[in-house]
Amino acid sequence: MSAKILLINGSPRPQNNSSYLLDKAREGVLSVSDVEYKLFEFSGRTFHGCKGTCTAYCMKNGTYSQKDDLQEFMELYLWADGIVWAVPTYHAGPPAQVKAALDRLGNVMSSYFKMKLPRFNKPTGIIVTGSSRYGGQEYVVDFMLQSITTTRNLIVGGESPKANMGVVGYASTWEPGSILEDTVSLEASVEMGRNVALTTKIIKAGIEEIAPELSERYFPDRMFEARRGRDEDIDMAWQKKESL
Ligand SMILES: Cc1cc2nc3c(=O)[nH]c(=O)nc-3n(C[C@H](O)[C@H](O)[C@H](O)COP(=O)(O)O)c2cc1C
Repeated sequence: MSAKILLINGSPRPQNNSSYLLDKAREGVLSVSDVEYKLFEFSGRTFHGCKGTCTAYCMKNGTYSQKDDLQEFMELYLWADGIVWAVPTYHAGPPAQVKAALDRLGNVMSSYFKMKLPRFNKPTGIIVTGSSRYGGQEYVVDFMLQSITTTRNLIVGGESPKANMGVVGYASTWEPGSILEDTVSLEASVEMGRNVALTTKIIKAGIEEIAPELSERYFPDRMFEARRGRDEDIDMAWQKKESL
């Protein structure tokens, strides 16, 4: 059983501390057999905020009316069987670019499938860094965990006592590389990467094993293919007219 893992670096900075943690996660991912990975970096890319006014376009096309780097992000997201995110803390939350990407990814998929999202079931691990010891990293972890369930994916927790719901790093200065002093978060990131890769293989094998029992919702590729072949009428009040 092979697995495709997407490593996502949510830092907008070209040189950043998140990359040190994500490198460690990659080490963990590659300690598992038959795994390939791709890296997606927010740095150098543009993500506009969702305007909400173009939902009809998303609903019809399953893509975005605003042209920026989100299309590439969505293609890689759909490619992945499992995901590891490394995200900095900005104002006790994720950077605006990460929030914008998740707002729009979530909205395009939920409107395209009229809220009946595929069950993506991608095992997903979270790694967060901040420059204060208790700088709000836990709120970023919390936001990301909510995003995982909202997009019908699966949370991979950390290994106690180094990490719990996600890996939390403390970069003592704003300088890239200062995270290297926080050896606990580096070790926890290796474990997170390995656990995401292993859980991904377990979930893929499980889906294959009980495939005849599962509805189409468990096969996102088939749902996208079926939806592409259907040109639905777009009605912004569809919730009132269709039984849910
Ligand atoms: C706009 C901005 C807001 C920040 N807000 C926080 C914060 O609320 N808490 C914190 O611990 N660090 C905060 N930081 C520091 C970064 O989280 C820290 O430098 C981190 O290492 C950045 O990740 P990166 O190096 O991967 O870009 C902030 C940095 C910036 C630029």
